Amino acid sequence: MKLTTAAAALSLCSLASAKTWVLSERLAGADLIQAFNFEVGAGTDNGGIADYGSLQTSRRRGLLAVSATTGWTMLKTSTGAATPEGNRESIRMSSKKRYSGGLFVFDVTHMPTGCGVWPALWMVAPDNWPTGGEIDIIEGVHATTQNLMSTHTTSVCIQQTTGFTGTFSYTANPALANTCDVVPTNNQGCGVRSPSTKSFGASFNQAQGGVYALQWDTTGLRTYFWPRSAVPADITAGAPTGTGWGTPANYVSAAGCPMTHFDPMVLVVNTNLCGTWGSGVWSDNLSYAGQSYSCAAKTGYSTCEAYVRANGGAFRQAYWTIRDIKVYV
Ligand SMILES: *[C@@H]1O[C@H](CO)[C@@H](O)[C@H](O)[C@H]1NC(C)=O
Repeated sequence: MKLTTAAAALSLCSLASAKTWVLSERLAGADLIQAFNFEVGAGTDNGGIADYGSLQTSRRRGLLAVSATTGWTMLKTSTGAATPEGNRESIRMSSKKRYSGGLFVFDVTHMPTGCGVWPALWMVAPDNWPTGGEIDIIEGVHATTQNLMSTHTTSVCIQQTTGFTGTFSYTANPALANTCDVVPTNNQGCGVRSPSTKSFGASFNQAQGGVYALQWDTTGLRTYFWPRSAVPADITAGAPTGTGWGTPANYVSAAGCPMTHFDPMVLVVNTNLCGTWGSGVWSDNLSYAGQSYSCAAKTGYSTCEAYVRANGGAFRQAYWTIRDIKVYV
């Protein structure tokens, strides 16, 4: 039977809510580390001053570790001296596998926080940006507490204005807030900020973190966040059905943004330092993202780079702890 477009969309909709997802991968501990490439480079990432180490170097330096008691994976930033080049050691890992859809469930108990950091957990079509798209699931800077979820594409990808709890973040030109094309938005794409002050940084960590999920299917991209105390039972049980998930924090419907914008993607977790974003807002109080002071005022340093280079001890909270990553199809 040939369905009309409307009928097809409707049936996909009802399928989406009734779907029982099947686990295809659970990445934790040694298996998680094995599933990623560790990208090496100093001062190469968006103007940042992170010095990303190899798997071997990161392990040796104590920056990459699996807890013997919990089995959770820790990705740390160096709390020692800056490198001779003026960078700070950190980690950027990128999955060996590419994914072209599914339900990705990230159980995170700690994320980097504090002036100078720019951590992210995201997906991107490598070597094909922006044509192959980018989906940012967790991202923020400094001591903010509200997560930013952005989608980066070429034209035409317009995000609908309803169906999610977050708010558009692109204030430079509100008329472009839901334009995901990187060209008119100065590479920002369409960004949506979580209303939850437990969704990023110190307050996320204080609540024992939580679970992020990206549902990427033919109907669109839906990003969910649940703090530890509110993770739905089906997610905890490892048998997700979508029941009790509530409204997603972010949603990009395929109706205005064809999923053909998104090529197979790698999953990336990194902690950058300063960089275009971090340095760019060093002197802003970022009150729109749950921070109440500027890092310049708080630290007494007029630049992000000078602060990061001189204050290793300030990076004790600049680490990720990942309990596991589950991929369902
Ligand atoms: C943050 O800065 C904005 C202007 O940039 C100002 O309106 C607001 O009052 C400031 N908030 C705090 C908490 O200082």
